[in-house]
Parts: sequence; C-alpha cells; structure tokens
Amino acid sequence: MNKKTDWYKPMAFYQIWIRSFKDGNGDGIGDLKGVYEKLEYIKSLNVDGIWFSPIYPSPKADFGYDISDYTDIDPEYGTLDDFKKVLDKAHLLGLKIIMDLVINHTSDEHKWFKESRKGKDNPYSDYYIWRDKPNNWDSILEGKAWEYDESRGQYYLHLFAKKQPDLNMDNPKVREEVKNILRFWMDLGVDGFREDVINFISKKEGLPDGLPFLPVINGIPYYKDGPHIHEYMREFRGVCEERGCMQVGEGPFTTLPTALKYLYGPEKSLDMMFSFDHMMADCFYTEYLHRPFKLSRYKKALTKWQKGLEGKAWNALYIENHDHPRIISRYGDERYRYESGSSLAASYLFLKGTPFIYQGQEIGMTNIRLKNIENYADVSSKNNFYRFNLKDSLERRLKRIHFSSRDSSRTPMQWTGGKYAGFSTHRPWFFINKNYRDVNVESEEKNEQSLLNFYRKCLKLRKQSRTLLFGSYREYFPADEKIYMYERSFKDVHYLIICSFSKHTADFKLPGGLKGVRMEQVLCNYSGVRAQFTLAPYEARVMRYRKP
Ligand code: GLC
Ligand code: CA
Repeated sequence: MNKKTDWYKPMAFYQIWIRSFKDGNGDGIGDLKGVYEKLEYIKSLNVDGIWFSPIYPSPKADFGYDISDYTDIDPEYGTLDDFKKVLDKAHLLGLKIIMDLVINHTSDEHKWFKESRKGKDNPYSDYYIWRDKPNNWDSILEGKAWEYDESRGQYYLHLFAKKQPDLNMDNPKVREEVKNILRFWMDLGVDGFREDVINFISKKEGLPDGLPFLPVINGIPYYKDGPHIHEYMREFRGVCEERGCMQVGEGPFTTLPTALKYLYGPEKSLDMMFSFDHMMADCFYTEYLHRPFKLSRYKKALTKWQKGLEGKAWNALYIENHDHPRIISRYGDERYRYESGSSLAASYLFLKGTPFIYQGQEIGMTNIRLKNIENYADVSSKNNFYRFNLKDSLERRLKRIHFSSRDSSRTPMQWTGGKYAGFSTHRPWFFINKNYRDVNVESEEKNEQSLLNFYRKCLKLRKQSRTLLFGSYREYFPADEKIYMYERSFKDVHYLIICSFSKHTADFKLPGGLKGVRMEQVLCNYSGVRAQFTLAPYEARVMRYRKP
C-alpha cells in the first residue's frame, strides 16, 4: 500500500446529509455547528472520515445538488469559517473530509446560468447546452430533459430537475472552472471528493434522440460514458493527484467493464466508484419499480464486483445513502430491526473495499410513510407519483412512494427519545420518523447489544485485520436464498462471514474444504452459546481460523 495515494484503503467513511444531521442554532435545520458538536460521536463509530453531501449555497430544488456558488457555504448551514472549524477539529481527531463535487449541472440560479441565458454573445453563452429544438430525452428527476428559456429564446438541457441545467463540459472554460473548484477546496485542506453522476458529464455530439421504449433514461446511451469522458476525467485527476487527494465517483448505471476504465489502467481517473448493481436486489433500476427482494441477486452483484476488481481496483462499499430508502425497510425486516440491520452490516462491512455508512444507518433508522404525497419533499418522489401508474388507485401509488422515496433517508437524525428527537430545539424542517422514541442514539449507546455498538465492533474488527482489509474474497453457496457466506483470506489467516437473511431459523453446512477446521468466533449479533449449524433469525457470525 502506497501511503500517499492509497491512504483511503484501510478507512471507512461516514456520510452526512447536513440538513437532517444535527441543528446547532435552533432553527430546525441541520448545520455545521451541529456537525461540530457531533464529531466525537462520528469518531466513536471507528470511521476515519466524513463525506459531506453538498453544503454549498443552493436554492435546494434538489437539496444542495443544485449549486449556485461552488466556493462558499449555504447560509442555512453556516459560513466558511464554520466549515474551517469543522475541518480543523476533524483533522485533529484523525478524520478526513471529502466534499461532494457536482459538476454535471449547476443551479439555474448560479451566476454562470444567469449570464448564459442572456444571449448568445454573452461570455457564459457556451457554459450550458442550448438548442433551438429539443431531442426526445427524458430527465431523471422531472419531466422532459429540455426547458424553454424565454430570455435566450432557446431550450437548455437538464438531465435532472428543471432547476439543474447541465454544464457544457466540451467548453474548456468550464473544465477550467471545475479545476479551480477542486483547487479551492484542496487549498482549504479537504482530503477528497465524491463526484456526482460523474459518468454523465460528456455528451455525444449532436445529442441524438434516445431509445423510444425506455422511459426516464432514454438518452442514456448518449450521455453515459460519453465520447470525451476519460479525457476530461484525466484533466481533473491531474489536479487532484498532485496533492494525494482521493476521488470517488458516483456511477449510475455503470457496469463492471465501463467502471474499470475509470479505475484501472492508463486512463485511471478515480480511486473508487459507487456502483448500483447490489442496490437492485428488490427493484429494477430504481426503487420505484419494486420487485420482491432476492438474496441471491444481492450476493451475485457483490461477488461480481469483488471478483471483478480483484487485483485491479478498489471497491466503494455502501448499502445506504441519501438517494435510497432505508435498507432495513428493503432488504431486512422492520420487525427484526436490530437482527436484520446487523446482519446487513456484516454482509458488506467485511468485503474488500472502503465502507461508507450513511447517517442513521448505524442506529437502524427505517422508512417513513407519510399520509399524503404533498407531505413529501423530494422532487423525484413527487414527480414519480404524478408521472407513472396513473391508472392505479391513489393508495397503491402512495404505497410505491412509501417504499421508494428518497425522503426516507432524509428525515432528521434521531439522537434521543426526547423532544424533536434531540435533533433540534425547534420544530424540524421535515417529519421525524415516529419510531424515534425507540430508535435513537441515546438509547443505543446505553445498550451493549445495539445496532450502533454492532457497527462499532465491525468497524474496529475490520481495521485490525490485514485479512479483512486486504485479503482475497470467496463466496460459498451462491444459490442459497437464506444465507450469505463469504471468506476472506490473507496468507494463512482466514475469516468466514455467515449472515442469515431469514426471519426463521436457518441451517447451514460448511463448505467441503472447511469441514473439521477449528474456528474461533470473533463476532456475532446474538449473545450466548450458539447452535453449531443453525442460525437464529438474521443471525450473523464472523469466524476466524488458520489453514496451513
Ligand atoms: C446524484 C445525487 C442525487 C442527485 C443527482 C443529481 O445521483 O446523489 O441526490 O439528485 O445526482 O445531482
Ligand atoms: Ca440550524
């Protein structure tokens, strides 16, 4: 491991979506002051860094992913000075900080767009993608991908919401702006970037019409991994590489071969990429298109990436973030909140790669189910509701939102069982999950057998073992629909991770080569003596052994 370039490999990160993390000034909105107060808590999880979802000035049409100024902090969240305080204290505690870099689009309230829409002779004219006639692309968050602008007399492209016009990355001036943004934050001392929908930034010349039969992502063949993507990514890499700055990209719809081009070989431009295959074990492409959870689908996706990157590139591991509903409500069972939450934790924290843990995941927060579509805040939830399945009953459509909404991961963090869940002293900006009296940090701190403490144990164990950090990966019994069993091996030290995904007891056997091997149990989500070959509901065990 090269200390200058590979420092993130033995680490784990905690993701903060600031608006709902912790309110420090009593206005009902999470902020940097709140983050500052909770840095010791974050450190206590045994993570090594923080990824901030966008905290820049933004009209918040997409809650920060619509940026109106790349080099400042949104006044609702604090000031640059507040940010520096957080950064300094985080560094003192040994926590790295990585920022969200959203450069596929800006807000329509960004200065560049305000100028660009003024006319074709404006210096910012070519910062965005303007056309006299739109093509047939759909946007991912809101209706068609083109919006007519009166003042310019042309249409602009927005792959996401209307208020998120796409930047024209073919314009070298735009790429210079991106490099300046990177330099600005690196100068301040940040350690890396999470790069939003980064595989969409280069569009095919001529913007051809997309596939007519594929709604929402019909233009994808023409904007995913576009013609100049690696050239542009190398430019940005150059700026980051000099300073040992880590880059992790978000790769919606990425496949193993396309991801490898970013991660490995002469065109390497990212250290890791968030892939989505394992997030589709209960849906097609988006949670909105639900299907029953199938364990073998989850395992197959994980194994594909573990084996596919082996010896070449490094995985970014996650099961939750601000774009997905809560994992216990999806792949687990809310009636077995602790058990399924901890088995899910063990199913991914011991894989090879750098784990990311999303705020609230570590205490087992679950989905909210609001009574009315108007109560939802996320632009895509509202649009999905009015865009699809219009013949279904309102009740069925709302159920789909209950299952799929990104708002479920964006409710205020549940710190205590007290007023406003300890998130704020003021009525919070958004609904708190009703279960906050049972599900909160304070009560889980007190309980040795809580999910919170299980996360801590997993992250500690992982960090202490070369095998768990760097060992090879092998899956056993891939067709088993109840149990996920995988092995990590480094020299003669091995770990076997056995996770049940069943709400009933589940019998298992050891693979042929491991029969009779003496194993030591190093972690289990149940206490007491365990039955040798039977797992309790959602039981998870980690076993260690030596093989000559
Ligand atoms: C990414 C973000 C998501 C956002 C979208 C557009 O997928 O994670 O929250 O809506 O990009 O920026
Ligand atoms: Ca606040």
